[in-house]
Amino acid sequence: MRIEIYNSSEEASLRALEIFKSSQQEGANVYGMATGSTPERLYELLSQSDIDFSQAVSINLDEYVGLEGENPQSYAYYMHDRLFKNKPFKASFIPNGQAKDIEDELARYDQVIKENPVDLQLLGLGSNGHIGFNEPGSDLEANTSLVNLTQSTIDDNQRFFASKEETPTKAITMGVGAIRKAKKIIIMAFGSQKAQAVRGMIEGPITSDLPASVLQKHPNVYVLLDKEAASLLNR
Ligand code: F6R
Repeated sequence: MRIEIYNSSEEASLRALEIFKSSQQEGANVYGMATGSTPERLYELLSQSDIDFSQAVSINLDEYVGLEGENPQSYAYYMHDRLFKNKPFKASFIPNGQAKDIEDELARYDQVIKENPVDLQLLGLGSNGHIGFNEPGSDLEANTSLVNLTQSTIDDNQRFFASKEETPTKAITMGVGAIRKAKKIIIMAFGSQKAQAVRGMIEGPITSDLPASVLQKHPNVYVLLDKEAASLLNR
């Protein structure tokens, strides 16, 4: 793991932009995308940059189950609003959280990932150590899965919804097994609420109790942190 600690999330986001640009120059064409608050600034920077994704493919990590596509809290809406409307890709894939047959949808998404091996995967880190929506206890070899979100994730996400009742409790997520196959990974974490998970990811044992810890075994991971997220690291 290459661990880089920055004074601010702004600096870390600028670094992530640089890695996107250099990866594209080196031939990356399939980009794994994350949502949430962590990559918001990076998506602004990418939107304002001269990077051209018109021949590239994007594959998103996850989507809530049960939200309408036009719901402003759906990840489909998020991606359109933050990035795709400014930087269209040749093809963009995201799990369909409204699929009638979820099993079919999981199989479809596995096929999408198989046909488009990810060159550069962007990840955020859950405060409980999740990546995608692979919560503590997840199978570290899993393919695309339907998951029940843990209470801590539901609580973390509630800030985006009007009430507890409206906060989704299920999601479709790319599995850890698939995430690990990306050729290169950037994981970003900002703020003191991520510090415990950051320490576990980097310095703890590799365990399904903290799914991000599996990244210790990946040969090409950039961990981009701000000072607060790095504050509990011993090394
Ligand atoms: C989002 C995702 C999640 C988030 C994580 C951190 O697509 O896969 O793993 O990256 O929950 O969320 P934020 O960035 O909102 O703190």
